[in-house]
Amino acid sequence: MDGNGRWAKKKGKTRIEGHKKGAEQIRHVLSAAKKLGVEYVTLYAFSSENWNRPKSEVTALMRLLEASIKANEKLFVKNGVRFETIGDTTALPAYCQKAISHIKAATKNCKNQTLVLALNYGSRDEIARVVNEIAREAAEGKLKKAPLEYGDIAARLDTAQIPDPDLIIRTSGEQRLSNYLMLQGAYSELYFTDVLWPDFGEKELEKAVAEYSKRERRYGLTSEQLK
Ligand code: FPP
Repeated sequence: MDGNGRWAKKKGKTRIEGHKKGAEQIRHVLSAAKKLGVEYVTLYAFSSENWNRPKSEVTALMRLLEASIKANEKLFVKNGVRFETIGDTTALPAYCQKAISHIKAATKNCKNQTLVLALNYGSRDEIARVVNEIAREAAEGKLKKAPLEYGDIAARLDTAQIPDPDLIIRTSGEQRLSNYLMLQGAYSELYFTDVLWPDFGEKELEKAVAEYSKRERRYGLTSEQLK
Protein backbone atom coordinates (compact mmCIF):
# COMPACT_ATOMS: atom_id res chain seq x y z
CA MET A 1 0.00 0.00 0.00
CA ASP A 2 2.73 2.41 -1.05
CA GLY A 3 2.34 6.10 -1.75
CA ASN A 4 0.20 7.40 1.10
CA GLY A 5 2.82 10.00 2.03
CA ARG A 6 3.23 11.28 -1.53
CA TRP A 7 -0.55 11.36 -2.03
CA ALA A 8 -0.86 13.52 1.09
CA LYS A 9 1.94 15.85 0.02
CA LYS A 10 0.31 16.38 -3.38
CA LYS A 11 -2.95 17.32 -1.67
CA GLY A 12 -1.32 19.54 0.97
CA LYS A 13 -2.34 17.14 3.74
CA THR A 14 -0.38 15.48 6.53
CA ARG A 15 1.19 12.04 6.04
CA ILE A 16 -1.24 10.65 8.59
CA GLU A 17 -4.18 11.92 6.52
CA GLY A 18 -2.62 10.01 3.63
CA HIS A 19 -2.52 6.83 5.71
CA LYS A 20 -6.15 7.42 6.73
CA LYS A 21 -7.23 7.65 3.11
CA GLY A 22 -5.09 4.56 2.44
CA ALA A 23 -6.87 2.65 5.19
CA GLU A 24 -10.27 3.70 3.75
CA GLN A 25 -9.26 2.27 0.36
CA ILE A 26 -9.03 -1.22 1.83
CA ARG A 27 -12.76 -1.90 1.87
CA HIS A 28 -13.17 -0.68 -1.72
CA VAL A 29 -10.32 -2.89 -2.91
CA LEU A 30 -11.74 -5.85 -1.00
CA SER A 31 -15.16 -5.50 -2.58
CA ALA A 32 -13.61 -5.02 -6.03
CA ALA A 33 -11.52 -8.14 -5.42
CA LYS A 34 -14.65 -10.06 -4.46
CA LYS A 35 -16.33 -9.10 -7.74
CA LEU A 36 -13.28 -10.36 -9.62
CA GLY A 37 -13.31 -13.68 -7.75
CA VAL A 38 -10.19 -12.96 -5.70
CA GLU A 39 -10.52 -14.92 -2.48
CA TYR A 40 -7.32 -13.89 -0.70
CA VAL A 41 -6.09 -10.32 -0.38
CA THR A 42 -2.86 -9.70 1.52
CA LEU A 43 -1.86 -6.12 2.29
CA TYR A 44 1.57 -4.94 3.41
CA ALA A 45 0.42 -2.59 6.17
CA PHE A 46 3.50 -2.32 8.40
CA SER A 47 6.91 -3.79 7.69
CA SER A 48 9.49 -4.92 10.22
CA GLU A 49 11.52 -1.90 9.02
CA ASN A 50 8.69 0.64 9.45
CA TRP A 51 9.49 0.89 13.19
CA ASN A 52 12.36 3.18 12.15
CA ARG A 53 9.94 5.89 10.96
CA PRO A 54 9.41 8.93 13.21
CA LYS A 55 7.81 7.82 16.47
CA SER A 56 4.79 10.09 15.89
CA GLU A 57 4.06 8.39 12.55
CA VAL A 58 4.48 4.90 14.03
CA THR A 59 2.09 5.72 16.88
CA ALA A 60 -0.44 7.27 14.49
CA LEU A 61 -0.28 4.16 12.27
CA MET A 62 -0.85 1.89 15.27
CA ARG A 63 -3.83 3.97 16.41
CA LEU A 64 -5.19 3.96 12.85
CA LEU A 65 -4.77 0.21 12.68
CA GLU A 66 -6.72 -0.24 15.91
CA ALA A 67 -9.46 2.17 14.81
CA SER A 68 -9.76 0.62 11.33
CA ILE A 69 -10.03 -2.90 12.71
CA LYS A 70 -12.74 -1.84 15.15
CA ALA A 71 -14.60 0.13 12.48
CA ASN A 72 -14.59 -2.79 10.01
CA GLU A 73 -15.34 -5.75 12.24
CA LYS A 74 -19.13 -5.71 11.79
CA LEU A 75 -18.85 -5.21 8.04
CA PHE A 76 -16.40 -8.11 7.71
CA VAL A 77 -18.72 -10.43 9.64
CA LYS A 78 -21.65 -9.31 7.46
CA ASN A 79 -19.68 -9.83 4.23
CA GLY A 80 -18.06 -13.08 5.32
CA VAL A 81 -14.50 -11.71 5.36
CA ARG A 82 -12.07 -13.69 7.51
CA PHE A 83 -9.33 -11.56 9.05
CA GLU A 84 -5.81 -12.95 9.36
CA THR A 85 -2.35 -11.52 9.94
CA ILE A 86 1.20 -12.43 9.04
CA GLY A 87 4.25 -11.02 10.80
CA ASP A 88 5.25 -10.93 14.43
CA THR A 89 2.25 -9.23 16.00
CA THR A 90 3.61 -9.79 19.53
CA ALA A 91 5.67 -6.60 19.07
CA LEU A 92 2.58 -4.44 18.35
CA PRO A 93 1.07 -2.30 21.13
CA ALA A 94 -1.28 -4.22 23.43
CA TYR A 95 -4.30 -2.23 22.16
CA CYS A 96 -3.60 -3.41 18.59
CA GLN A 97 -3.10 -7.01 19.69
CA LYS A 98 -6.41 -6.86 21.52
CA ALA A 99 -8.29 -5.53 18.47
CA ILE A 100 -6.60 -8.15 16.27
CA SER A 101 -7.54 -11.05 18.57
CA HIS A 102 -11.09 -9.74 18.71
CA ILE A 103 -11.60 -9.46 14.95
CA LYS A 104 -9.87 -12.81 14.30
CA ALA A 105 -12.23 -14.55 16.71
CA ALA A 106 -15.28 -12.70 15.32
CA THR A 107 -14.47 -13.61 11.70
CA LYS A 108 -12.91 -17.06 12.11
CA ASN A 109 -15.83 -18.87 10.43
CA CYS A 110 -16.22 -16.36 7.58
CA LYS A 111 -15.88 -18.10 4.23
CA ASN A 112 -16.34 -15.59 1.40
CA GLN A 113 -12.94 -13.94 1.41
CA THR A 114 -9.78 -13.72 3.50
CA LEU A 115 -8.05 -10.44 4.25
CA VAL A 116 -4.49 -10.89 5.48
CA LEU A 117 -2.71 -7.90 6.96
CA ALA A 118 1.07 -8.05 7.04
CA LEU A 119 1.93 -6.39 10.34
CA ASN A 120 5.47 -6.10 11.62
CA TYR A 121 6.18 -8.36 8.66
CA GLY A 122 9.40 -8.84 6.75
CA SER A 123 10.47 -11.96 4.85
CA ARG A 124 13.93 -11.97 6.38
CA ASP A 125 12.50 -11.78 9.89
CA GLU A 126 9.98 -14.51 9.02
CA ILE A 127 12.72 -16.80 7.69
CA ALA A 128 14.93 -16.14 10.74
CA ARG A 129 12.00 -17.08 13.01
CA VAL A 130 11.46 -20.33 11.07
CA VAL A 131 15.18 -21.23 11.20
CA ASN A 132 15.24 -20.62 14.94
CA GLU A 133 12.15 -22.78 15.39
CA ILE A 134 13.71 -25.62 13.39
CA ALA A 135 16.97 -25.30 15.37
CA ARG A 136 15.00 -25.50 18.61
CA GLU A 137 13.09 -28.57 17.41
CA ALA A 138 16.40 -30.20 16.42
CA ALA A 139 18.01 -29.39 19.77
CA GLU A 140 15.03 -30.90 21.57
CA GLY A 141 15.16 -34.03 19.38
CA LYS A 142 11.72 -33.24 17.92
CA LEU A 143 12.77 -32.96 14.28
CA LYS A 144 11.64 -36.24 12.76
CA LYS A 145 12.81 -35.67 9.21
CA ALA A 146 16.12 -34.97 7.46
CA PRO A 147 16.87 -33.50 5.05
CA LEU A 148 14.06 -30.97 5.22
CA GLU A 149 12.36 -29.89 2.01
CA TYR A 150 10.83 -26.55 1.06
CA GLY A 151 7.40 -27.84 2.07
CA ASP A 152 8.66 -28.31 5.64
CA ILE A 153 9.77 -24.69 5.67
CA ALA A 154 6.55 -23.44 4.05
CA ALA A 155 4.56 -25.23 6.75
CA ARG A 156 6.34 -23.09 9.35
CA LEU A 157 6.01 -19.74 7.57
CA ASP A 158 3.40 -17.23 8.77
CA THR A 159 1.50 -18.05 5.56
CA ALA A 160 1.25 -21.81 6.29
CA GLN A 161 -2.56 -21.65 5.94
CA ILE A 162 -2.60 -19.13 3.07
CA PRO A 163 -1.97 -19.95 -0.61
CA ASP A 164 0.99 -18.34 -2.38
CA PRO A 165 0.02 -15.07 -4.07
CA ASP A 166 -0.81 -15.33 -7.78
CA LEU A 167 -0.27 -11.62 -8.27
CA ILE A 168 1.75 -9.07 -6.29
CA ILE A 169 0.81 -5.45 -6.97
CA ARG A 170 3.06 -2.59 -5.94
CA THR A 171 1.63 0.89 -6.14
CA SER A 172 3.32 4.29 -6.37
CA GLY A 173 5.90 3.63 -9.08
CA GLU A 174 8.46 1.78 -6.96
CA GLN A 175 9.67 -1.45 -8.50
CA ARG A 176 10.94 -3.63 -5.67
CA LEU A 177 9.61 -6.21 -3.22
CA SER A 178 10.90 -4.53 -0.04
CA ASN A 179 11.16 -7.75 1.98
CA TYR A 180 7.61 -8.82 1.10
CA LEU A 181 6.65 -12.50 0.64
CA MET A 182 10.05 -13.31 -0.83
CA LEU A 183 9.61 -17.10 -0.63
CA GLN A 184 5.86 -17.18 -1.20
CA GLY A 185 6.22 -14.85 -4.18
CA ALA A 186 8.79 -17.03 -5.96
CA TYR A 187 6.34 -17.65 -8.83
CA SER A 188 3.99 -14.71 -8.35
CA GLU A 189 3.32 -12.41 -11.25
CA LEU A 190 4.46 -8.87 -10.46
CA TYR A 191 2.52 -5.76 -11.41
CA PHE A 192 3.82 -2.25 -10.91
CA THR A 193 1.69 0.85 -11.25
CA ASP A 194 2.43 4.55 -10.79
CA VAL A 195 -0.96 5.02 -9.09
CA LEU A 196 -0.58 5.93 -5.41
CA TRP A 197 -2.31 3.58 -2.97
CA PRO A 198 -5.00 6.10 -1.89
CA ASP A 199 -6.03 6.36 -5.57
CA PHE A 200 -5.95 2.59 -6.16
CA GLY A 201 -9.56 1.44 -6.52
CA GLU A 202 -11.82 -0.89 -8.49
CA LYS A 203 -10.71 0.28 -11.96
CA GLU A 204 -7.04 -0.06 -11.04
CA LEU A 205 -7.54 -3.56 -9.65
CA GLU A 206 -9.44 -4.56 -12.80
CA LYS A 207 -6.50 -3.31 -14.88
CA ALA A 208 -4.02 -5.30 -12.81
CA VAL A 209 -6.09 -8.49 -13.03
CA ALA A 210 -6.60 -8.02 -16.79
CA GLU A 211 -2.81 -7.74 -17.19
CA TYR A 212 -2.34 -10.80 -14.97
CA SER A 213 -4.74 -12.84 -17.11
CA LYS A 214 -2.49 -12.24 -20.15
CA ARG A 215 0.57 -13.71 -18.45
CA GLU A 216 1.75 -17.26 -19.06
CA ARG A 217 2.78 -18.91 -15.81
CA ARG A 218 5.33 -21.55 -16.73
CA TYR A 219 6.84 -22.58 -13.38
CA GLY A 220 10.04 -23.60 -15.14
CA LEU A 221 8.29 -25.51 -17.94
CA THR A 222 8.17 -24.60 -21.64
CA SER A 223 5.10 -23.13 -23.34
CA GLU A 224 4.73 -26.37 -25.30
CA GLN A 225 4.65 -28.44 -22.15
CA LEU A 226 1.88 -26.27 -20.76
CA LYS A 227 -0.27 -26.99 -23.81
C1 FPP B 1 3.34 3.16 2.64
O1 FPP B 1 3.20 4.48 2.18
C2 FPP B 1 2.32 2.88 3.62
C3 FPP B 1 2.56 2.45 4.89
C4 FPP B 1 3.91 2.23 5.43
C5 FPP B 1 1.45 2.21 5.83
C6 FPP B 1 0.24 1.59 5.25
C7 FPP B 1 -0.81 1.65 6.24
C8 FPP B 1 -2.10 1.99 6.02
C9 FPP B 1 -2.67 2.21 4.69
C10 FPP B 1 -3.02 2.17 7.13
C11 FPP B 1 -2.82 1.22 8.28
C12 FPP B 1 -4.08 0.75 8.71
C13 FPP B 1 -4.61 -0.39 8.35
C14 FPP B 1 -6.02 -0.63 8.63
C15 FPP B 1 -3.86 -1.45 7.67
P1 FPP B 1 4.36 5.53 2.50
O2 FPP B 1 4.10 6.11 3.84
O3 FPP B 1 5.66 4.84 2.37
O4 FPP B 1 4.14 6.57 1.36
P2 FPP B 1 5.28 7.42 0.64
O5 FPP B 1 6.28 6.43 0.09
O6 FPP B 1 4.54 8.13 -0.44
O7 FPP B 1 5.86 8.34 1.67
